Amino acid sequence: MARVNLVVDGTRYVDEVPPRLLLVQYLREHLGKVGTVIGCDTGNCGACTVLYAAPDGRAQAVKSCSMLAVQADGGEVTTVEGLAAADGTLHPVQQAFHENHALQCGFCTPGMIVAAVDLLREKPHPTEAEIREGLSGNLCRCTGYENIVRAVQAAAAAMNGSGAAAPSAPSQAAPAEPASSTPATTTEVAA
Ligand code: FES
Ligand code: FES
Repeated sequence: MARVNLVVDGTRYVDEVPPRLLLVQYLREHLGKVGTVIGCDTGNCGACTVLYAAPDGRAQAVKSCSMLAVQADGGEVTTVEGLAAADGTLHPVQQAFHENHALQCGFCTPGMIVAAVDLLREKPHPTEAEIREGLSGNLCRCTGYENIVRAVQAAAAAMNGSGAAAPSAPSQAAPAEPASSTPATTTEVAA
């Protein structure tokens, strides 16, 4: 077993996990973050995309089926479940997906939304081509992508028009308390 100590959607967790446990399995099976889905398990579909901020502050969207849980140690993960405000107000990208009918079956949607958030963090004013390229690692079998592109354009307009800054990278939380003799179960620690 190996120890992981990371912040997920604002809550710090300290766990003992199998060294080969994938980050997506840790999120879903240990933390119950089932909003992050598994579409292919081979790094192709992007359905499992989450935001990951490394301990050095570098933030990026990652496919959580292509990363071990232990590789996320010391960092901060934001899943689609962590994007909305505490009062339930949707993130502008979530709102735009809803308003622009950017989903049908919805299976690609969690990863697509997280990838779009990362895209707009890096490019607050993306062209259509940049949106299509930015989301090229996320596959959708239903929509034909048109409404997804429209939703990202709408989210960009809303975020810029309102004067709101592009979504920031997850902030690095303060380190947790030193590891205790915690059994191999999920332990929440105030972030
Ligand atoms: S489930 Fe991770 S890329 Fe498809
Ligand atoms: S809405 Fe069905 S895969 Fe995208």
